[in-house]
Amino acid sequence: MAEIVLSNVQKFFGTVQVIRDLNLTIADREFVVLLGPSGCGKTTTLRAIAGLEDITSGEIRIDGKPVQDLEASERDIAFVFQLYALYPHLTVFENIAFPLRAAGGARADVEREVNAVARALDIGHFLGKRPSALSGGDMQRVAIGRALVRRPKAILMDEPIGALDAKLREDMRTELKRLHIENKATSVYVTHDQVEAMSLADRIVVMSEGVLQQVGTPIEVYQNPANLFVAQFIGSPVMNISDAKLETEGGQAKVRLGNASEAFGVPVTLPRAIEASGRGDGGLSLGIRPEGVIVAHQPGEGLVPLEAHVIEPLGAYDIVDLKVGSGVLRARTVSGFVGKPGDTVFARLDENQTHFFDTRSGQSLGVRLGA
Ligand SMILES: Nc1ncnc2c1ncn2[C@@H]1O[C@H](COP(=O)(O)OP(=O)(O)OP(=O)(O)O)[C@@H](O)[C@H]1O
Ligand SMILES: [Mg+2]
Repeated sequence: MAEIVLSNVQKFFGTVQVIRDLNLTIADREFVVLLGPSGCGKTTTLRAIAGLEDITSGEIRIDGKPVQDLEASERDIAFVFQLYALYPHLTVFENIAFPLRAAGGARADVEREVNAVARALDIGHFLGKRPSALSGGDMQRVAIGRALVRRPKAILMDEPIGALDAKLREDMRTELKRLHIENKATSVYVTHDQVEAMSLADRIVVMSEGVLQQVGTPIEVYQNPANLFVAQFIGSPVMNISDAKLETEGGQAKVRLGNASEAFGVPVTLPRAIEASGRGDGGLSLGIRPEGVIVAHQPGEGLVPLEAHVIEPLGAYDIVDLKVGSGVLRARTVSGFVGKPGDTVFARLDENQTHFFDTRSGQSLGVRLGA
């Protein structure tokens, strides 16, 4: 069991900085997911924690003890790579037993521990096989078994199920979560798949270009993204983002998206709340997820008529593009709600799901309409 603390961690490869001033505390027994696009520094961060990569400056502590000067083997941390990295000439049993034997474990202990891990991972029936006889998912189970068998303080996983097909990834996700609940080892997990991050993490760490963007529970980062990057990286289909202008007229406040001819009603208190945020000098962007765009068949108070364009039927629901000026606002509706492209529907923005960002800095204004 371990708490992992990164303080002011910087990492350069030559003159290129790939981790910028990273501060992060991972609690004992926590499952933290590092999420970000390719090249943002996820693997480098993980390797730095494991001791497979030196950091340029800053400090990494495990259970309060600085570890920069410790070798990877002295940190008591296990690493699971994207590609299985199993020993092809050894049986599954021997692959899992390897770290225990290397540490001089007694024969009976090795047997007991390997069998316990095999039971947990449900791989007991092929302990005698070679890795080449296994499917991708089973190979990765063996790799995870090999990482867990030493009962390390922490387990680091770099896209461990990224190479598997969609169905297997879903199964393995559930399994990883169950394993974590049973083992309670501090876990740091890297992925660029936001669905995987949302489903596995106690907390998600969103990174972009070596910079930590936001740390929070899945619900926090989904409902209160700190900036435009997080807002658009998390959630599918992506959040609608549009230039927005506030207008007040006759005691009513409205927000106009882009160059639209119609504007959406907002609470009269909004302009003052935006001013009070002290942000927004760089222009205003409005963000709303498709499920926050409420669509009706009939006109009514506060509803804006919009023409439907593309309709994507996704089975459980539809995603409908509504024309707003020269742009589109994507709405999530029940299946078949909008009959065909060209139909006119009536829409409003759910106050509780409307976000405002400073366009230039990308930072959220922290202003919520509803609350
Ligand atoms: N050994 C190295 N030498 C030089 N540059 C490196 C080295 N390792 C990584 N980089 C660079 O550091 C940056 C971060 O790489 P890293 O592998 O940490 O990204 P990542 O977030 O894991 O991406 P991916 O999702 O593609 O695995 C990239 O620009 C990469 O090219
Ligand atoms: Mg990587």
